[in-house]
Amino acid sequence: MTTPRILISEADIQRRVRELAAEISNDYAGEPVTLVGVLKGAFIFLADLSRHLTMPRSIEFMAVSSYGMGTTSSGAVRVLMDLRRSIEGRHVLVVEDIVDTGLTLHYLLELLSTRDPASLKTCALVRKKERHEVDVKVDYLGFDIPNVWVVGYGLDHAEDLRALPYIGVVDPDDETAGE
Ligand code: PRP
Repeated sequence: MTTPRILISEADIQRRVRELAAEISNDYAGEPVTLVGVLKGAFIFLADLSRHLTMPRSIEFMAVSSYGMGTTSSGAVRVLMDLRRSIEGRHVLVVEDIVDTGLTLHYLLELLSTRDPASLKTCALVRKKERHEVDVKVDYLGFDIPNVWVVGYGLDHAEDLRALPYIGVVDPDDETAGE
């Protein structure tokens, strides 16, 4: 059995999520916002973040594929599930768990900007800047992290470990991680 090593504790995540929510709430100053969570990884971060925001907010999801079950990015991004509602004229905040190569967020921003939102911003819990293959702006960032395989708080290892309350590190080749 290999227990993930804690990289960011539950308390540190919760504190940072509250700080981000306060900053975002202040910036939007009561304007309604559409939060776009990118499945699956963002579901826990989006759930916590959205509960701390103070402006009117609607929640949408998109599902895209980039990694499959493997541990390296193929670079290909495909929309598996699109938004259910129009974002035309809406303030849109894309919420991601992780920005790794940046390809997913870059692609999503290109796509969503063609739909005439009033504004389009990004929020990510963690970012691996050294892995970026494209420049992508994260307006609200939780933590910069090194190039390690992270799990928990929405992030998976072969679909496992998403429900951990902290962000941990595992060896991506360890098939017993989390058992
Ligand atoms: C993760 C994450 C981002 C993407 C970031 O999703 O949720 O969407 O990878 O990687 P990138 O910056 O290299 O494009 P993943 O494809 O692992 O799917 P999941 O969220 O369903 O686990």
